[in-house]
Amino acid sequence: MRSPCLKSLSITLIVALSTFAPRQGLAASPEPVKAEHGMVVTAQHLASDIGVEVLKKGGNAIDAAVAVGYALAVVYPTAGNIGGGGFMTIRFKDGKTTFLDFRERAPLAATKTMYLDDKGDLVKGLSTEGYLAVGVPGPVMGFEFARSRYGTKPLKELIDPAIELAREGFVLQQGDIESFDGETERLARDPAAAAIFLKPDGKPFAAGDRLVQTDLAASLSSIAEKGTDAFYKGAIADAIVKASADKGGILAKEDFERYQVRELEPVKCNYRGYDIVSSPPPSSGGLIICEILNILEGYPLSYLGYGSAETVHAMIEAMRHAYVDRNTALGDPAFVENPVAKLVDKSYAKEIRAKIDPFKAGVSQELMPAGFTESKETTHYSIIDDEGNAVAVTYTLNGSFGAGVVAPGTGILLNNEMDDFTAKPGTPNLYGLVQGEANAIEPGKTPLSSMSPTIISRDGKPFMVIGSPGGARIITITLEAIINVIDHGMNIQEAVDAPRVHHQWLPDKVFMEPYALSPDTRKLLSAMGHDVQVDENWMIWGQAAGILVGGENVAEIEAGGGARYNGAVDSRIGAGAARGY
Ligand code: GLY
Repeated sequence: MRSPCLKSLSITLIVALSTFAPRQGLAASPEPVKAEHGMVVTAQHLASDIGVEVLKKGGNAIDAAVAVGYALAVVYPTAGNIGGGGFMTIRFKDGKTTFLDFRERAPLAATKTMYLDDKGDLVKGLSTEGYLAVGVPGPVMGFEFARSRYGTKPLKELIDPAIELAREGFVLQQGDIESFDGETERLARDPAAAAIFLKPDGKPFAAGDRLVQTDLAASLSSIAEKGTDAFYKGAIADAIVKASADKGGILAKEDFERYQVRELEPVKCNYRGYDIVSSPPPSSGGLIICEILNILEGYPLSYLGYGSAETVHAMIEAMRHAYVDRNTALGDPAFVENPVAKLVDKSYAKEIRAKIDPFKAGVSQELMPAGFTESKETTHYSIIDDEGNAVAVTYTLNGSFGAGVVAPGTGILLNNEMDDFTAKPGTPNLYGLVQGEANAIEPGKTPLSSMSPTIISRDGKPFMVIGSPGGARIITITLEAIINVIDHGMNIQEAVDAPRVHHQWLPDKVFMEPYALSPDTRKLLSAMGHDVQVDENWMIWGQAAGILVGGENVAEIEAGGGARYNGAVDSRIGAGAARGY
């Protein structure tokens, strides 16, 4: 580590040299997929095929997003869904942007203490397993809101490919099987889920088996025929409410009848000349990405280099400070006042930078706000069409296969999104997030999310579409893909594949994927006081899906010589694909 007496000289040199530092890809990955007219990147290849077919037939990116959303509900049941919730960020060809919130709402009968016992202690599993964990689902209403306002195709045309895949089934490949791994016991507990997602002998599916979902095909057909009423006012809502009542849940028909999509102003910020548009509350994602980027803008990351101790130290400290805001100050905007303007303000970032010691790790406990007591599965897809309309969708059941329950006769897996609320202030949730009162449970409220569907433009033109699953890591995964492209010069495939680090304030640990940091870097970080460890759960780090426009990396874009659309699905996904035409 440098001695403090060299500090001012080295900062001067760093700032001077960073201007001239060569941009180079430091990771090794397959080539991005290249195309001239449209690109669809999803976690399951059949869904990508369906999306690109919609584009080829003249549908726009919003049409393709709706078709992909329904298709993933069939071919990627661990996270694709109509029984969960999500967000859609849209950048239209004229540069206008919007954001759709179709995330779950708490049932009207929900209470702040519903997951606590008589002594006020959390009852393990209550917010993650079974019907009490289920929030009121939003995708069917969200997709229809998007299609009817911004799409061009009839619903039936967009939903038909999903119906066919559910009715006829599809052959599971090794990549599909991976998402079923370790879920047999949970799925076996719910007879309706087991009947679909396990073999008749109770064993898990293997590669080569065909997954047929007859009930889901019927549910999708009734949505295609009757629209959102089929889900929110008709037989599907009735079946879910009945199953919930039979199994100790609190969902009521009124919860479904009152469900509404919110169209919100996206969060916006600028990072080194790039315009970022991302998710506003009830997601923390866009705000926290902007806050971290604003802090990092004061450091010459390009010069310091990917994976260097100085770069990682700056990233960790920025994450530490921003996650304090995430976990203590944010919640559903219909219920709490979110400090949106402050968190995206560059002078707030400057204040935070002034508190960061360049040679020493911060201490998370010291950032605990007064009065605050001490807390995997999602999927993202990115689409762009020939006209330049771009759509980023992240939607989720929360945990893998959600709450692990299917209302009999519907074929629809239900979420366990209620766990994203603060079940008990100061107690970690599924993702280890320790959260506060702003995200406490209230009837009709939406739990705070980390989902960060993000679209970036430069000089008024689309530049990047990006997002990821990964629970609390969604924010840092999306952030790292962005800085890997903008600061480290990686191509889009390298940027989503590169090993990652993560810090979320509490626990006060730096998590890294295997090989993300060299032994030398780890030693330097430990000497600064960081507790660095390979994440035991590294298999579940999210799988990003990105598109870069005008070239595969910044150098190619600036030279004006790249393919128009460059798609990359994270190599961590076994089943995903980027498809263009
Ligand atoms: N359920 C993950 C999230 O919304 O952040």
